[in-house]
Amino acid sequence: MSSYLVTGGAGFIGSHLVEELVRRGQRVRVVDSLVTGKRRNLEHVGGVEFIEGDLAEMPVAVKSVAGMDYVLHQAAIPSVPRSVNDPIASHRANLDATINMLVAARDAKVKRLVFAGSSSEYGNTPTLPKREDMPANPLSPYALQKNAAVVYCQLFTKLYGFETVSIRYFNVFGPRQDPGSPYSGVISLFATALLAGKQPVIYGDGEQTRDFTYVANVVDGVLRACDAPKAAGEIINVATGGRTSLNELLKVMNRIAGTNLQAIYKEPRTGDVKDSQADVTKARALLGYTPTVSFEDGLKKTLDWCRREAAAIAS
Ligand code: UD1
Repeated sequence: MSSYLVTGGAGFIGSHLVEELVRRGQRVRVVDSLVTGKRRNLEHVGGVEFIEGDLAEMPVAVKSVAGMDYVLHQAAIPSVPRSVNDPIASHRANLDATINMLVAARDAKVKRLVFAGSSSEYGNTPTLPKREDMPANPLSPYALQKNAAVVYCQLFTKLYGFETVSIRYFNVFGPRQDPGSPYSGVISLFATALLAGKQPVIYGDGEQTRDFTYVANVVDGVLRACDAPKAAGEIINVATGGRTSLNELLKVMNRIAGTNLQAIYKEPRTGDVKDSQADVTKARALLGYTPTVSFEDGLKKTLDWCRREAAAIAS
């Protein structure tokens, strides 16, 4: 049995990592500030140690890493537009907390830290799909913070021999993604709108594309990154390798939900990337990763969960 610290473990992706680690019989500790995470996301998982705290405070970081073999650093304020509106808060959560975690984990002799990077780091690239060796071109404070954190991770491996792996996520979706704010992920917002019989909003013409990735694929990639021998110091895309426009996404979701709701189109968002699609060759080579849940199956699972949630709230 190994011990894992999941930072942001009460959040969407973090709670799925916790669930899988517990299923595999590992020892799990969660640290979460509960700013965007929710205790409710972990209610169904037993035997998890929970620390409530802000990792931008060094004593919280030090307490959290004590005795841990691995750190899965997921804690973040994950929204592009939120970072445009409030760059200081997102800097603190995404960058100050990360440097604390790196120092604390290095000093506590953690075996490896796996960091949640972002496809937004690439910005608009002249070619698709996006490969890890393409230069970063951040278009928002969020993308810049994630990129600086990834470069910090690499530097800690080079400078101190502390093993880090940065996994770049591409539009992760699935159960427990919170639809409760205008900053929420687009699939959670579309699902909530369709199931309530409301028209969803599309920012721009809806022809922007994303490599929408079901959360179980990301969990698989991150857990592989903990012990893949050649992954230390690397940046690795974990996604599906496909891309879907928002107009197409809405069409597929309408079909699955049995609805026919048209979008309301609004001005494009500042800091938005036009197209996002991952090259997953490196993940296959270094992690033995292959996406196991397709985009459409993931959407079905997500809509089923949203339906059950809506029913539970109504009853
Ligand atoms: C998302 C993640 C970010 C992650 C990145 C990786 C969220 C909230 N953000 O950013 O953490 O690092 O992927 O690629 O999960 N849109 C609409 N209508 C809506 C909401 C959004 O049209 O109601 C549009 C946005 O303008 C954007 C696209 O949908 O073009 C996706 O937006 P969003 O789900 O917020 O994700 P990203 O900004 O791509």
